[in-house]
Amino acid sequence: MKPWSPDSWRQFPIQQQPVYPDNDVLIAVENKLKQQPPLVFAGEVTDLKAQLAEVAWGNAFLLQGGDCAESFTAFSTDTIRDTFKVLMQMAVVLTFAASRNVIKVGRIGGQFAKPRSSDTETRDGVTLPSYRGDIINDYQFTPEARVPDPERIIKAYHQASATLNLVRAFAQGGLASLDKIHSWNLDFVKGLASEQFYELTAHIDQSIAFMKACGITVENTPQLRETTLYTSHEALLLPYEEALVHHDHLTDSWYDCSAHMLWIGDRTRQPEGAHVEFLRGINNPLGIKLGPSATEDDLNELLEKLNPDNEAGRITLIVRMGADYIETGLPPLIRCVKKEGHEVVWSSDPMHGNTIETNTGYKTREVKRILQEVQSFFAIHKTEGTYAGGIHFEMTGANVTECIGGDHHTITEQSLSDRYTTQCDPRLNASQALELAFMIADTLKKC
Ligand code: PEP
Ligand code: CO
Repeated sequence: MKPWSPDSWRQFPIQQQPVYPDNDVLIAVENKLKQQPPLVFAGEVTDLKAQLAEVAWGNAFLLQGGDCAESFTAFSTDTIRDTFKVLMQMAVVLTFAASRNVIKVGRIGGQFAKPRSSDTETRDGVTLPSYRGDIINDYQFTPEARVPDPERIIKAYHQASATLNLVRAFAQGGLASLDKIHSWNLDFVKGLASEQFYELTAHIDQSIAFMKACGITVENTPQLRETTLYTSHEALLLPYEEALVHHDHLTDSWYDCSAHMLWIGDRTRQPEGAHVEFLRGINNPLGIKLGPSATEDDLNELLEKLNPDNEAGRITLIVRMGADYIETGLPPLIRCVKKEGHEVVWSSDPMHGNTIETNTGYKTREVKRILQEVQSFFAIHKTEGTYAGGIHFEMTGANVTECIGGDHHTITEQSLSDRYTTQCDPRLNASQALELAFMIADTLKKC
C-alpha cells in the first residue's frame, strides 16, 4: 500500500468540492486552522470505536442522528438543547426496550458541508452555483451569497467548538441525568408517542426508586447521572478535515480531530477517489453510506482499503437504499460481507433514499416510507441471520413541518410551508423522531 499522509488525498480525483475564487485565502485559512486545538481527543475516539465493536458483535445499538446541515443562523443554545433532549428520549426508549447499551452519536458539531446532485440551481430563470453548506457558501439566492468563502471554514470550526462545549455540559452537567427524564419531553410533543413516553418515565421513576432503596442513587452512580454524546459528520470538505488531523503519540496513529466519527457520502465513496484516500489513514471509526448503486465489488474494495485489518468498530455500513429498493439491494451486500468475514456494524439511514419533491416544490419525506424502510432493514437482517445494529436519521428538536405524516397533528403536503426551515434535507421533528424510536423499540423487543 502506498504511504499515506494527511494531504495525500490531494493527488487523487475529487468530487463535490467548491472552487474558491482566491486560493491564497484558502491556504491562509488552512494554516490558521492547523494551529487551533483539536475538537475531540484520540482517547474518546478509541472509546467510541470499542463501543461500536460491541455493536458489531450484537451487544449494543447505535443511534446516530441530527441535522442534515447545521447552519450559522439556526445556531443557538435552545436548538442544541432541544436536539439533545430528543436524542436522549430516543436513546432511553431504545435502551429500555432492547436492554442493550445505546451508543449515541450526533450529526452535530461539524455537519456543515453538503454534497449536491447539481452544481447549479435555477430559480425563475436565474441560475447560480448550488448551496453547499454554511462552511462553504450562503443559502441566500444571490450571486454574492453563493460565492465560496474560505473564511466560513474558521466560523464553522468555532461554531463546532461552542456546540461541543455545550453538548459536553448537557451530557455531564445534569440534563442527561435519569431523574431529569421528565424534562426531556418538549412541550409541543403530544399524541401517542408522548403518552408512551410518559408511561416509560413512570417505569424508570419506579426503577430509580427501587435502586435508591438498594443504595444505588443518581448522586453516587455516574452511569445514571451522565452520558456521552459523540459527534459525527460527513468528511466532505477535505481542506477542513486535513487541517484538524493530529498525530497521537500514545498510539502512534493519526486522528481526524474534527469529530469522533466521520462518514463518507454515497456520492464520494469512489474506491480510487480522494475521500477514500483521506479516510484510510485516520484511525477514527468510519461510516460508509450505501445507496442503490453500491455493488459487492465496490464494497469489498472499500472494506479492503478502509479496514485492511478487519478491526471491529472501525466500519459502520449505513444503508440508504429507499423503502422499495432495499428489498433487492441489501441482501446481496449482507451475503457478501458475511462470505468475506468482514466485521461491520449495519445501520439503516431510512431518510436519504426516500426524498421526494411535492408539486409545490418542497423536498420532503413521508414518515410511513421512513418507517417502512427501517422495518424492511430489520426483517432482512433477521432472514439473513445478521444483526441490525443501528439507525441513522435526520431530525431536529424544533417543531418543524418538513416530513409528511406522523401520528400527532399529521403534517400534510399543504402544511409543509408552515414551519419549513431546513437549509437542505427535510428532518423529522421531535414527535416524528419519538414515534420512530417507539417503532424500533417494538422491533428490538422481538429480536
Ligand atoms: C447526508 O447524510 O446528509 C447525505 C447527503 O447522505 P448520502 O451521502 O447518503 O446521500
Ligand atoms: Co441529508
